Amino acid sequence: MTIPKAELHLHIEGTLEPELAFALAERNGVTLPYASADELRRAYAFDDLQSFLDLYYALMAVLRTERDFADLADAYLARAAAQGVRHAEIFFDPQAHTARGVPIGTVVEGLARALDGSRERHGVSTRLIMCFLRDESAASAMETFEAARPHLHRIAAVGLDSAEVGHPPVTFREVYDAAAAAGLRRVAHAGEEGPPAYVWEALDVLGVDRIDHGIRSMEDPELVARLARDQVPLTVCPLSNVRLRCVAALDEHPLPAMLDAGLLVTVNSDDPAYFGGYAGDNFDALRDALALDEDTVRRLARNSFRAAFLDGEEHLRARYLAEVDAYVF
Ligand code: HPA
Ligand code: ZN
Repeated sequence: MTIPKAELHLHIEGTLEPELAFALAERNGVTLPYASADELRRAYAFDDLQSFLDLYYALMAVLRTERDFADLADAYLARAAAQGVRHAEIFFDPQAHTARGVPIGTVVEGLARALDGSRERHGVSTRLIMCFLRDESAASAMETFEAARPHLHRIAAVGLDSAEVGHPPVTFREVYDAAAAAGLRRVAHAGEEGPPAYVWEALDVLGVDRIDHGIRSMEDPELVARLARDQVPLTVCPLSNVRLRCVAALDEHPLPAMLDAGLLVTVNSDDPAYFGGYAGDNFDALRDALALDEDTVRRLARNSFRAAFLDGEEHLRARYLAEVDAYVF
């Protein structure tokens, strides 16, 4: 569906399509343990978050130079634009690259090269969100934040991702405080596989502006009331939730109940190369599985721009919202 929308939950490393992975492997002299892009694609069957993350981190071996990161981001922006994305807030995982000897400057400046040309090339405005890996230590997160300081003018927010269960938000209080002091917005994955308690912590300890996923919030009525009262945006990723078996099937997805509860829900693709679709594909799949009516689809698209970090560019937010209102199905 090409209704204008913002994508607010998108891991750039999760946009690495098998064909691009093989092209970058060849360019960089990296050998992948798969014979072809098709064989690689057949490996995309996951039991849970960890089984996905194992493959996701392994494939990053092909990303080595600024040009690689620029090519990856440019390919994503072209696909996103074709599916109606007008604004994209893009996660990246610096520790997954610095651990392999790729400097953080290579990652940020490579991504920035593609993002800087995005409005002209693709008609998509962008933000960059730097995520800390929650299965690494608080000290590693702080070290990463310090290493990123020369690049903070390119970064709008910090986030928290990777294996959730057993890695509560509270561990990262200090680095989130440092990010806030540096004027950055804050988000965190919470309530994807982890319990509602992690969503409370992300809100009350890390001071996040949005919750990524948050689907398990529905198990805690008090939390639902809090999220509704404060209109905390939730960046929900329907195809991801099914592929990682957080939700049994799309027609059992809690999204309609979340909307009924008055939550500020948005629809996003998470890792589209792995989970079967980009932002518009997620809208299509949801509409088909749950028989969403046009008003609901328009509400979801409006929510995405309401929740975007477009502070300082309110004219853009207003323009995008007007585009949603004018959209003819
Ligand atoms: N959850 C946590 N970490 C991630 C994800 C996700 O869905 N995708 C990429 N890193
Ligand atoms: Zn995610």
